[in-house]
Parts: sequence; C-alpha cells; structure tokens
Amino acid sequence: MNKRLLLLPGDGIGPEVIAQAEKVLRTLVTAGDLPCIDITTGLIGGCAIDMHGTPLPDDTLAMAQHADAVLLGAVGAPQYDNLPNDKKPELGLLSLRQAMGVFANLRPAICHSALVHSSSLKPDLVAGLDILIVRELIGGIYFGQPRGIIEENGERVGINTMRYAEHEIIRLGRAAFAAARRRQGRLCSVEKANVLEVGMLWRDVMTVLGRDEFPDIELSHMYADNAAMQLVRAPKQFDVIATGNLFGDVLSDAAAMLTGSIGMLPSASLDDKGRGLYEPVHGSAPDIAGQDKANPLAAILSVEMMLRYSLNASVAADKVSAAVRQTLNDNYRTADIAGDGDSIIGCAAMGQKVLDYL
Ligand code: IPM
Ligand code: MG
Repeated sequence: MNKRLLLLPGDGIGPEVIAQAEKVLRTLVTAGDLPCIDITTGLIGGCAIDMHGTPLPDDTLAMAQHADAVLLGAVGAPQYDNLPNDKKPELGLLSLRQAMGVFANLRPAICHSALVHSSSLKPDLVAGLDILIVRELIGGIYFGQPRGIIEENGERVGINTMRYAEHEIIRLGRAAFAAARRRQGRLCSVEKANVLEVGMLWRDVMTVLGRDEFPDIELSHMYADNAAMQLVRAPKQFDVIATGNLFGDVLSDAAAMLTGSIGMLPSASLDDKGRGLYEPVHGSAPDIAGQDKANPLAAILSVEMMLRYSLNASVAADKVSAAVRQTLNDNYRTADIAGDGDSIIGCAAMGQKVLDYL
C-alpha cells in the first residue's frame, strides 16, 4: 500500500514553503527515488478558523490519524491574537500534536559551512555546529492541569501546572538516548532540579534509564538557565540535549539563531511507531507572508527528516540534503540568510534551485 502523506500548509508563509517542499517530494517520486505516495491536503490554524470556525476541524484530525506522516507549514496570524485561548490557531497545532501522540520533538541545529557568517555568534563558535534538541512535546506545563485564569481575593490569578509522570520521561528519554547512539554518543539532560520537583524526578529517571539501558552513552545533567548560557557561550560542547516541553521550546529558538537563521531549521515529532509530524521551526512570519520572500529550506529539510524517519527512504533523504548543501554552496540566498553583497532570490526561486540540484 502507498504511504499516506497529509499536507497542512496553514497560515502566513506556510503555504509558500510547503508548495516548494511538495515539489521536492513529487520530483523524488517522478525520478523513481521514492515509491508512489498518496498526498492529500487539509486545513489547520487560522485558515481553518475562517472556513470552519475551529483551528483543528474534525476531518483534518481524521486525515492526520490515517496518515503515515504529516507535513505542516505554520499556524497563526495577528488577526487571531485576541481570540480566547481555545479558539486560537496555535491550539490547532497543540491539539494535533497531542492527538497524534508525537511525544518526541527532534530539532536539529546544524550550521552549514556556507552560512557561518550569517550567525549572530562569532564564526569559530558555530563552524561545524551539529546539535540535536529532543524536546518532550505533549506533556509538561503546556498540557498540565489545573490551568486557567481564576478570581481570587478580588484579582485574577493565572495558573499552569508543570507535571511529568515517569512513563513520559522514560519514553522521551529513550528517544533521546537512541538519537545520541546514532550520533556522537553524548546526551545532556536539561531541567531545573535545583528548584522544581519535576526536575528532580526528571534527573532521577534519566539517570536510571541511562545506567540500565544506555550505559554506552555519556549522560550529563544541566540546569535550564545554565543550558541557555552554554548554548550561546560554547554551543559545540553539546551533542544531544533532552528536555521538557517548555525548556525545549525556549532553548530550540536560541539554538536556531546559532545556525544563521530560524528559516533553516526543520523538525520531526515522532510517536513510538515511526509516525511523524514534520514542521519547519519558523512560525508563520505574517510580516513577509505572500511576498515570495520566505526561506523554503526549513520545509524542504523537514521533508528530508520525513523521508528518514517515517518513509524509510534514507537514500532519497541524502539526496535532498545534498541538494540543499549545493544550493547554499553556490551562494543562492533568501533574504534571511543573505550576507553583505549576496544577491537575494525569492522563495519559489530558492525551491527551484533545490529541484535543479535534485
Ligand atoms: C514551537 C512553537 C509552538 C510551541 C507554538 C506555535 C504553539 O513555538 O513549535 O516551538 O510553543 O510549541
Ligand atoms: Mg517555539
């Protein structure tokens, strides 16, 4: 049976970058590098609110649950910012992640040699950088109960709850240790065990897991605030970082800037059966939406991750990463990664360059 792929372009620059990513997939099929795949498209986020009054319509959810992989563009736009929380575009994404059970969010931060000068850090700090953040995605303070805004003593009080059960830490830990085993064999577990009970439990569970199941992996622990500092001080000290939902959200944006542009970063969110949700890490970027200025490489590199993790097509994945490298080496740049004197091309032209090299 053909693999089933669902495209969810979403809002802002999502549709532009997903259009380029889809061309990459279709080119691989035409060239015989990939068996036929069934591709369908659905609505999520603001565009789904406009059409159906909800950010995650039932048929989108049903299609996602039947798909082997989902490729998502981005959700969110300023006109929805004042809606109540349960009507916002972002809720569509959070609900989709949870419904798909994709607990392990893999966010690689690789600084391509052609882009060392685009980073805000000194070139020698980022040259050769290749780290992977494994962020827990469907638990922690993002989903913990109780939550809400209540009235207390005549004022409003905002409440969220950070909680992790052992099984949630273990399954995330296994994904992170396994990733370290495929790389340099080093895992840094990040929490706030000096302040939070959740962090104490997290550290304890990771320590036992490492000792019992991954004695070959070098495990270290770091507080989240220190990890933020170390990421901008000496990022190459890391191989794989494993952390919870909130710290992973913050640290992965910081890591993104090390690479030159958040427009370069793909992500994969996986369950334990290889089904995945693939997203560029950049958001919907409403300021440049519809102007053919967006960088499609994060979406295209998300396809690369999809080929590797959900479609069992590592040869095709290698071709995509080689084509992206060629595009950069030959100095094609969208605005976000252009240096002084570089000529700038648009989203569609950048996508076409990758296709040419493919
Ligand atoms: C991310 C984003 C999301 C998150 C938002 C859009 C809900 O920041 O994927 O990192 O907080 O997880
Ligand atoms: Mg984020």
